Amino acid sequence: MKKELPEIRELNGIPTLYVDGKPFFALGGELHNSSVSSNDYMDKNVWPNLLGLNMNTVVAPVYWEMLEKEEGVFDFSIVEHLLKRAREYDMHVVILWFGLWKNSESNYIPGWMKRDRERYYVVRKDTGEPLNIISALCEEAVEKDAYAFSQLMKYLREEDGDESTVIAMQIENEIGILGSARDYGKRANELFEAAVPADMAQRFNVSGTWKEAFGADAEEYFMAYHYASAIEKITAAGREEYPIPCYANVWLRQFPWYAGSYPSGGPVREVHDIWKLKAPSLFTIGPDIYVAYAPFVMDEYHYEGNPLFIPEIRKDASSASYCLYAFGQHNALCFSPFGIEDLKADKESMPGPDPSVLAELNIDPAAFDTTGTDIYLSQAYGFMNDIMPLYLQYRGTDHFKCYLKKAETERGEYFRFEKFDLLVSYFRPQPHKPAPAGFIFELAPDRFLICGMMSRIKFFAKEGGGKKAGFINIEEGSFVNGQWTPGRIMNGDERMDVSFGGDIRCFMAELGEY
Ligand code: DGJ
Repeated sequence: MKKELPEIRELNGIPTLYVDGKPFFALGGELHNSSVSSNDYMDKNVWPNLLGLNMNTVVAPVYWEMLEKEEGVFDFSIVEHLLKRAREYDMHVVILWFGLWKNSESNYIPGWMKRDRERYYVVRKDTGEPLNIISALCEEAVEKDAYAFSQLMKYLREEDGDESTVIAMQIENEIGILGSARDYGKRANELFEAAVPADMAQRFNVSGTWKEAFGADAEEYFMAYHYASAIEKITAAGREEYPIPCYANVWLRQFPWYAGSYPSGGPVREVHDIWKLKAPSLFTIGPDIYVAYAPFVMDEYHYEGNPLFIPEIRKDASSASYCLYAFGQHNALCFSPFGIEDLKADKESMPGPDPSVLAELNIDPAAFDTTGTDIYLSQAYGFMNDIMPLYLQYRGTDHFKCYLKKAETERGEYFRFEKFDLLVSYFRPQPHKPAPAGFIFELAPDRFLICGMMSRIKFFAKEGGGKKAGFINIEEGSFVNGQWTPGRIMNGDERMDVSFGGDIRCFMAELGEY
C-alpha cells in the first residue's frame, strides 16, 4: 500500500515532520563521514553500536564519487544496503548528499570531475591561489550535481516511496568558502563588479554594484547569493523526482568571526534572508552545534519560517539535556549528535580525535568527550519516546515548560502557573553528567508532572492568599507506552527534597494549600 510521503505540516500551528501520515520526531545520530562507504564496516562497527540508544533515525552520508564513478553511470549499492539495514534495525534515515561541497571543499566529487579542472573550475583567492572548492558559479558542475542528485531521488522514489525509510535529505554539507570571503575567479569578479541582481536590489532596497550596495558585507552576501542559487537548482531537481523534505546545514559563524574563517556564503543566520529568497525549496537551515553555548544557537536558529532541525550536535553528556531543550523549548524536528557510532564503541581501543583535526574544524574538544553520553542520551531518547503522547498534547501550550541551565551564571528558574508557582534550582555542573534540564507539565491547576535531571524543585502558593503549598501526594514513576506507572510514594522525608540526579526521573505531584 502506498504511504503518504514524509512532509512538513503544521500541527497546532507548529511545523512538524510527518512520516507515514503521523507526527515524527527524529531521535537521531549522525554517522562519521566515511562509515557508509563500506557495507562491511557498517555491519561490523556501526549498526550493532546503535542498538540500545533508543534512536529512531540515523543521519548518514552518501557520496557522489561512489554513486557516479563513471560519468552518467549510477551505482546505488551503498544506498541499497543502507535502506535494507535501516529497515532491519527499525530506523529511519536522513540522507546527507555529499556532492559538490562538504565542509566547504570538493572532496566527494567523482574522479572524472576532479580530473577536469578546466571545465569544472575552482574558487580562487584574491592572490589568484586556487582552493579545493568547485566554484558555485561553475554552472556545468552545478548541473552535473543536480542531475546526480535527481538520480538519487529517483532511486529513492522507486525503492523507498512505499516505505518512507528516508525521511529527509540534506543538500551538500556545511557549504561556503573556507579561506576567503569570496571567489575571486574571472566569472566571479565580473559578476561582483556588475550591478546587484534585480531580486536582491528589490528585496534589500539597494542599487549599484555589490560593494556599493552592501559595503563590508558585500563579499559574503555575494557568495550567499550564488551558493543559495546553486543549492536551489540541486534541490529543485531532486524534489522534482521525489518531493520529500530537504534542508541545508551550516558551519556556524563563530570565533574568529570573519567570513572565510567560517565558510563564507554558507547559510549562517546573518544571511538567511538571502538564502530564503534564493533557495525556497529548502524547508529549513539546520545548525551544526559544537560550540559551548549550544542552547543559544538553538534560540537563534529556531524562528518562524525556520523550524529547528539539528543534524549535528556535540556528543558530550550534556547532549541529553540539549535534547530536552531542543524538543521542549524549540519544537525540534530532529536532534542528532555527530559520530553516534562512537558512543558504544570500545573506548580503550579508540584513540580520541586528533586535536589538530579538531582545531582545523574549529571544534571544541570537549564536544567530543563521550564519557557517559551513551547512558544519558539513551535515557533522554527513551524518555522522549515514552512521553510522546503527552508532549504532543501539551507542546506549544502555557501548561508545558522546559528548563535548561544554559550558562554558568544561571542558578535556576521560577515558573508561575495558574494556582501554584514552582522554583527549579540547578545542581552545580559535574564532569560527565548532563546539564540541569527538564520538562514541567501542568496537568491541572493542582497537578504537575515534572521530569528532569540535575535539579531540585519546590512549590509555592501564590502570595497574598496567606497559605502555603503542600503535597497531597507526591510519587515517582515513569511512562510506559504513554501511561503513567507509579513507583514509590514519596510522602515521608523524601517530600522535603524533590530532586533529580543525572538519570532522568519523573515525579507526579498533587498539591494542596494549608
Ligand atoms: C562538521 C561536519 O559537517 C561533519 O561532517 C564532520 O566533519 C564534523 N564537523 C566533525 O568531524
